[in-house]
Amino acid sequence: MQTTTQIVLSQRPTGRVDEGCFTAEQIPMPEPADGEVLVKSCWLAFAPAQRSALNDIPSYVPPVALGEVMRGTGVGQVLASRHAGFSEGDLVVGPIGWQEHCVMNPDTVSSPLELVPTDIGDPKLVLTVLGVSGMTAYFGMKKFGRPTTGDTVLVTAAAGSVGSLAGQIARAFGAERIIGTAGSEEKLAWVREIAGFDACVNYHDSHVFRALRAAANGGGFDVIFDNVGGSLLDNALGNISNGARVVLCGSISTGYMPKRAEIGLHNYAYLTTRRGTMAGFIVTDFADEFPAAITEMRTWIANGKLSWAEDMAEGLENAPATLQRLFDGKNLGKQLLHIADPA
Ligand SMILES: NC(=O)c1ccc[n+]([C@@H]2O[C@H](COP(=O)([O-])OP(=O)(O)OC[C@H]3O[C@@H](n4cnc5c(N)ncnc54)[C@H](OP(=O)(O)O)[C@@H]3O)[C@@H](O)[C@H]2O)c1
Repeated sequence: MQTTTQIVLSQRPTGRVDEGCFTAEQIPMPEPADGEVLVKSCWLAFAPAQRSALNDIPSYVPPVALGEVMRGTGVGQVLASRHAGFSEGDLVVGPIGWQEHCVMNPDTVSSPLELVPTDIGDPKLVLTVLGVSGMTAYFGMKKFGRPTTGDTVLVTAAAGSVGSLAGQIARAFGAERIIGTAGSEEKLAWVREIAGFDACVNYHDSHVFRALRAAANGGGFDVIFDNVGGSLLDNALGNISNGARVVLCGSISTGYMPKRAEIGLHNYAYLTTRRGTMAGFIVTDFADEFPAAITEMRTWIANGKLSWAEDMAEGLENAPATLQRLFDGKNLGKQLLHIADPA
């Protein structure tokens, strides 16, 4: 009998994510019923929010249940179809999970299973610049950062998937000076030389407040696009200009663990004296606008305005360790995992 492997959550992590939290289970190869497709997983994408979904705490998505296949977005290939909209050989993107194969009804899964556009070139683009990361950077910047000509923009976790694109999108919207933060010399160089930021600050610097101020050429930040939270956000808030927009995209410094972060913001009062605003957002709220955003992003790609990086791990058995890489700062650009090549 042909079998296939799934990785299910067997124990909720209280700290680091490792393979002890998951069990690899062999199941008989599933067969699609009417309206379903059988999909072979090719590449999985990893995002910090997957760590939150391991906590038994309701959020904007429900927690992964014990015994459930770990959730994850990826690109796969249709091996068999009993759905009119999909054919054998099609590449698809959607919630395929941490498993070698899955059957699903594309119409009833929580987020849609979609065909990868055939004119896209590299199908992995739907997991990187034209996927959730790209959409997060685009809508966070466009709707909340709202950079205009001459603005100075700070992006934290700037060597990451969302952050690297957020800075470049701010430039495309007319911002003048783009500053990033990252955690290693290799990343600082990539952010400046490949992503084209004007400066990048190592947030491990013991004088990060002063380093941020110097990077802004002594002026303030008109936009902060924050992926990190905690003391780094606090240091950035102390350097805002009048009318600054602070975009709360994520707070990875908390580790997205069940225990509440202990760091409060001391510099929030600058939002009052400098007439600033601070807003959080969830990218899926803008799903209806994704097609127009993708069109604009594809134009920028064609014009050479966007650079991005993939960080590729190998093998489904390494999925837990691959998720932990995000919290150890090991990834540069979008963290992916290769499972199998499309035929
Ligand atoms: N609001 C939304 O709808 C939405 C959607 C998607 C993602 N997000 C958020 O966007 C942010 C970036 O996500 P991503 O997928 O692009 O991940 P990513 O930035 O590619 O990877 C995470 C990076 O965060 C940095 N990091 C980890 N721990 C840190 C700490 N304690 N302090 C400072 N930096 C730390 C690391 O870079 P360094 O080496 O530089 O430390 C790491 O490489 C996350 O906060 C995520 O939750 C929000």
